[in-house]
Amino acid sequence: MTAPSATEIARAAAVLRSGGLVAFPTETVYGLGADARNAEAVARIFAVKGRPQDHPVIVHIPGIEYLQGWARDVPPLALALARAFWPGPLTLVLRRAAGVPDAVTGGQDTVGLRVPSHAVAQALLRAFAGEEGGRRFDGVAAPSANRFGRISPTTAEHVRADLGSDVDMILDGGACEVGIESTIVDCSRGVPVLLRPGRVTAADIAGLAGVMPLGADRESPRAPGTLESHYAPRHPLKLVVPAQWDKALAHSGGRRAVLSLREQPLQDPSMRWIRMPQDPAGYGHGLYAGLRALDACDCEFILVEAPPEGAEWEGIRDRLGRAATPA
Ligand code: TXA
Ligand code: MG
Repeated sequence: MTAPSATEIARAAAVLRSGGLVAFPTETVYGLGADARNAEAVARIFAVKGRPQDHPVIVHIPGIEYLQGWARDVPPLALALARAFWPGPLTLVLRRAAGVPDAVTGGQDTVGLRVPSHAVAQALLRAFAGEEGGRRFDGVAAPSANRFGRISPTTAEHVRADLGSDVDMILDGGACEVGIESTIVDCSRGVPVLLRPGRVTAADIAGLAGVMPLGADRESPRAPGTLESHYAPRHPLKLVVPAQWDKALAHSGGRRAVLSLREQPLQDPSMRWIRMPQDPAGYGHGLYAGLRALDACDCEFILVEAPPEGAEWEGIRDRLGRAATPA
């Protein structure tokens, strides 16, 4: 992979300004981007993904200085979080500014905002930003660049496999470093609410907020990332706690594909086995590529060893829990 050239970045920015769709890398997962102020372009994202139109989508901005164009009220907590974690894998939900289209908020009074740190995302957002023909370009709406409900893409190859020619352009920025979607914190309700865990942990947020964020509840706005069956492979996925692992392995028959922290005990060619890194950062980085590889092999089900407890594994446990087939 060679990084996209300045010419390619400029072309991608022009595609976005003219209402087209560009898939681009971020440090979390690849996004499917459109001009966030162009409701028709945003509607195309939903059509391509096969996602319900009333779901809100994250607006990616080049830097913290673009916040006031999108949010009418930035509480001190949100500002502290933005200063601490932007650019980076954190999305803030804030009260929307006047004129923010319903297309990106799902008709809600809030908007999700994020400043990605990936160099290609940064270059694209900066090239896109500006004014032209009396129009303001200052944010790119982008959900993950996969079909609705499936595993998010962490390489340009994944995007090509999922969306192919349905997008106008794909920028290749290599494999995403974090590998799971951004942490989402709702800062519109007085107390911070953790809508989706990720690399930025509840403890990181508490460190700045002085209180632990609340978990998502029934008051929480609609968020497809919080649907139970999301991020799911095609094959049934069984999540097994470490204490049950040996038993599960011995007693489950059929063609299995395995994602484990351990080494494969004995060579068994009928079993595809991926051993994951022992650290949460390495594990997150490889998780979706691993699940995609297992899902693509000729198995009857996927057996996954649940990762350890601990705050820094929270995002990974959350995604695996959603990928698992309900018992
Ligand atoms: O890491 C990420 O966040 C990636 C990259 C591309 O930035 N994006 C991503 O987007 O994961 P998506 O659409 O797959 O998930 C975004 C989540 C959804 O669950 C959506 O409902 C939620 O963010 N969201 C967006 N705006 C919101 C709002 N105003 N209120 C509540 N949730 C919101
Ligand atoms: Mg998604």
